[in-house]
Amino acid sequence: MIVLAFETSCDETSVAVLENGKVLSNIIASQLFHSEFGGVVPEIASREHLKKIVEITEEALSRSKKNLNEINLIAATSEPGLIGALLIGLNFAKSIAATLNIPFVTVNHIQAHIYSTFLNQKRPEFPFISLIVSGGHTLLILVNNYFEHKILGTTVDDAAGEAFDKVAKLLKLGYPGGPIIDKLAKQGNPDYHKFPLANVKNYPLNFSFSGIKTSVLYFLRDIDFENKRSDKLVNDICASFQYAAVESLYRKTLKAIQKYGIKNISISGGVSANSCLQKKFLSLNKEGYKVFIPDLEYSTDNAAMIGLVGMLKYKLSKRKKYYSRESFNEKAKPRLNYENF
Ligand code: KG4
Ligand code: ZN
Repeated sequence: MIVLAFETSCDETSVAVLENGKVLSNIIASQLFHSEFGGVVPEIASREHLKKIVEITEEALSRSKKNLNEINLIAATSEPGLIGALLIGLNFAKSIAATLNIPFVTVNHIQAHIYSTFLNQKRPEFPFISLIVSGGHTLLILVNNYFEHKILGTTVDDAAGEAFDKVAKLLKLGYPGGPIIDKLAKQGNPDYHKFPLANVKNYPLNFSFSGIKTSVLYFLRDIDFENKRSDKLVNDICASFQYAAVESLYRKTLKAIQKYGIKNISISGGVSANSCLQKKFLSLNKEGYKVFIPDLEYSTDNAAMIGLVGMLKYKLSKRKKYYSRESFNEKAKPRLNYENF
């Protein structure tokens, strides 16, 4: 089965071609210009997807050495994400499916992050705990089987990636903050300052990141950061903040795997690219756990993970017909729908 997949939920225009779950091409165009606004501007993101989508699709097809007539299934992200941005990928994908009269499936972006570790050579075995850490979501999920998900914990305020982005903004480092903090923290001292690790009362598997961000804000004010700024100081603050953020993710995940007696752990979403997080979690491999993290190309937003989940959904679905013309009524939902998750 050859799948053509589209991802346009935020600021990456991505198109991939997969054959029987193997990635033939995965083109990702990141909209870097949002950094000048300190975050993604939804309207500009949608317009950029519109400008790029034809070109990126042609490139994905050409790199995969497949042509449109060989495609058996079209998949596109439908939720969650920026509604205008989602609509560009969805409608473009649906038009191709309708023209070719081939099946079309919508994919939940968070589910795609869960299964992104299945694109690696070694994949987690069921049941596993999935930690999703992206710019918009932080979730601990028990995955019992394909599409049998139980959400164990989520953030009560900011997402993990959002905390990295906000702290980078406070330090005037640019956007997205995660990769910049990761790089600078390598030269900093994680013990320079202890930022608090938040616990959510009565909900031990829930996360909270706004407290760490606020304590960074107060700390900068207390030390008169504006006037004392130096490379060393910035590196030390990055390292100390990163330590606290990663430690908080690690402790909650550990609680979940112990509570449910799970040995396989999958970590995905943009923040899973963080070097400190990877080191911390991969150390669990020495304690009898199996930790899976996607290759860098598949940790941040990409269409390959959409194609994989599209194929799984199509193959495992009990719905007899998935033909494009019948799926035209599927609407893009702007928010994660926990009921249907
Ligand atoms: O999954 P993703 O590409 O998009 C969403 O679905 O949100 O995640 C983007 C997030 C951003 O907040 C970015 O700062 C963060 O992932 N990120 C990182 C790193 N690379 C990306 N955070 C920490 N360390 C990194 N190396
Ligand atoms: Zn994402």
